[in-house]
Amino acid sequence: MKIAMMAVLFVASIAQAHVPLENFQTKPILADLKDLRALNIPVMSKDEYAQVGYAVVTPESQQRLQEYTHANGKCGGFEDLSQEKAISVQGFAGMIASLSQHLKKDALYERAPFRAMDVGQNKALASAIDEIKVENMQATVAWLSSYGTRFNRASNPNVHVNDLKKKLEDMLASSSIPHEVTLIDHQSTNQKSVRVRLTGSEKPNEIVVLGAHLDSINMSWSGGDKAPGADDNASGSSNLIEALRIASTKAQPKRTVDFFWYAGEESGLLGSAEIAKQYKAQKADVVGVLQLDMTLFPGSGELVIGSMTDFTSSWLRDYLKSMNDVYIHAQVVDSECGYGCSDHASWYRQGYPTLMPFEAKMDDMNPNIHTARDLVTTDSNFNHSVAYTKIALIFAMDLANSTARQPY
Ligand code: BES
Ligand code: ZN
Repeated sequence: MKIAMMAVLFVASIAQAHVPLENFQTKPILADLKDLRALNIPVMSKDEYAQVGYAVVTPESQQRLQEYTHANGKCGGFEDLSQEKAISVQGFAGMIASLSQHLKKDALYERAPFRAMDVGQNKALASAIDEIKVENMQATVAWLSSYGTRFNRASNPNVHVNDLKKKLEDMLASSSIPHEVTLIDHQSTNQKSVRVRLTGSEKPNEIVVLGAHLDSINMSWSGGDKAPGADDNASGSSNLIEALRIASTKAQPKRTVDFFWYAGEESGLLGSAEIAKQYKAQKADVVGVLQLDMTLFPGSGELVIGSMTDFTSSWLRDYLKSMNDVYIHAQVVDSECGYGCSDHASWYRQGYPTLMPFEAKMDDMNPNIHTARDLVTTDSNFNHSVAYTKIALIFAMDLANSTARQPY
């Protein structure tokens, strides 16, 4: 009797102390292994080499992780995997293992005594670069920042998307390069991505991808939902529009060039994750992926370009240095996000080579992103941003006309 009584009390006390498990809204995530360990969050699968761990977080542990990573200078600090279809520990373990494989190959290549990527002088490209107009980029950033928000969960998340599609169609109307402008529907968000494809003349199955996220977000505690996103990421979007304007008046590239303006990046790389997966499923031969996200704030100096080293390929980081020597003459400095901070991570995860040139070193980035203050200000520098339009043009006119490939 006494024992039965104790058992009842014991069970009752558990029931009181713990919210029933099924009431937790858990979320599968990938995060930095160090962060998970520091916070004692149970790690379900991990890779020590990639320093990545898979965990299932509760709202409470998610909040702690967010605060911890914020305090350590990371924006989001982890990746939400809720949208993944095949949620299983094994599935995620496989994902992490393949990520680790790419990292190891990249690290090996970096130690190789040779470099495979050289950019030569090319008159057509040099004169295309001379055609970049800062005024066009200024006008595009002003236009995109004038929407109240470009948030993917806004009540009307496609107003600016449709407007961009129309603008691109008009811009390309006189181009002699075979092309198409497409809106891409997504499962994970109502917002659409935009793609412009310039079809390759000789090797249309080899694809060079250039991307920027078009959405914006307001994450400030003070509330409000204005998200002009001038730097993050009207700037990268404008680099691509200007590069496309010029490339579309030149000779048809040998390889196909796909320009993307992605949906829902700020909510977890939503658009790019679906697109990269689809390309992989179709066995698309993507030779290189450029991601432009934040190019307007010269935090480390007007002539300094940050080159993110995580979720990017050493082969393309070399290419950046080489093109900089020939056409840009800035200083390229390595930096890292510490997590999959933008859409290049979606492609890297599918095994494609990626590059992410960034406005500054991570520590010197624009402090006003994700707020109503992300506007064009006296700190914005369009001459700085021009360097990223050049990089886009070099992808569209050099890489897309070459036979170069990642050598591993
Ligand atoms: N532009 C940022 C990414 C960024 C921030 C790059 C700082 C380099 C330095 C991007 O739009 C963003 O905010 N990404 C999210 C991650 C995503 C998985 C939700 C972030 O950093 O929180
Ligand atoms: Zn952002």
